[in-house]
Amino acid sequence: MDHLLQLKNVSKTFGEVTALHHVNFEVGSNEIVGLLGDNGAGKSTLVKIITGYHPPDSGGEIYWKSKKMDNLSVPMARDMGIEVVYQERALADQQSLWRNIFMGRELSNRWGLLDIGGMTRETQKLMNTAMGFTSSAVSPESSVGTFSGGERQGVAITRALYFEAELIILDEPTMGLSLTETKKCLEFVDGIKAAGKSCIFIDHNIFHVYPVVDRIVVLDRGTIAGMYMKNELSMDELLERLYRVARTGNLEDNGKAA
Ligand SMILES: Nc1ncnc2c1ncn2[C@@H]1O[C@H](COP(=O)(O)OP(=O)(O)OP(=O)(O)O)[C@@H](O)[C@H]1O
Ligand SMILES: [Mg+2]
Repeated sequence: MDHLLQLKNVSKTFGEVTALHHVNFEVGSNEIVGLLGDNGAGKSTLVKIITGYHPPDSGGEIYWKSKKMDNLSVPMARDMGIEVVYQERALADQQSLWRNIFMGRELSNRWGLLDIGGMTRETQKLMNTAMGFTSSAVSPESSVGTFSGGERQGVAITRALYFEAELIILDEPTMGLSLTETKKCLEFVDGIKAAGKSCIFIDHNIFHVYPVVDRIVVLDRGTIAGMYMKNELSMDELLERLYRVARTGNLEDNGKAA
């Protein structure tokens, strides 16, 4: 398979705490990977290594499209096309929708001035297509501070897709969302797949993860406890294995189970 991203032998220690221990992890092109694991399993630490925020401990290697990335930094990861969407921190509340979409990557006209008209028109287009906003109450000028959690999520994902992110990472995007907003958020993950991009989807709720992913990776106390193609196991089987991991740290029933 074509790997978009590959981590080899990645460990991360913070003083006495081993957050990640010899982790091998990959994301294929146009693959949606569900990353599951209890609190403190190391999921967010893994994300921070992928986004260049933390360097891995020595010996760990990061490959992007088969090219080894030494000293990966946050701007490098962003330039490569890796975007993280956090629910809370994603948007600037005081600013309009169009400013949020184009923040940091403003369009300019041929005189080098901000192309406000162009950005407003593009935003309107995205609202009608990618974001699926139909409410007449929302316009490119609306301040995103009034948006629901699900709408905010949609704006952030749309922005990532618009700027051609190749890998979009969602770290617990459904946290605090209502049922309808969660559904909308999961539809956005389907949109990432349909757009031909890849995604790492982190969520505690396997009922959210299972339907939208191609593969599931289970992290347990810093190590990869299992990896499944979705079509290899039913949701019930997955649930049973996750309970087993929680009890024993082992995904397979190898006789060591308590
Ligand atoms: N900057 C840091 N300094 C010290 N310890 C850290 C740091 N970041 C993470 N840790 C520790 O590493 C471990 C893994 O944390 P991480 O945030 O990656 O877990 P997580 O799987 O994202 O958990 P959650 O589901 O609660 O978000 C935890 O024990 C955490 O306390
Ligand atoms: Mg986390």
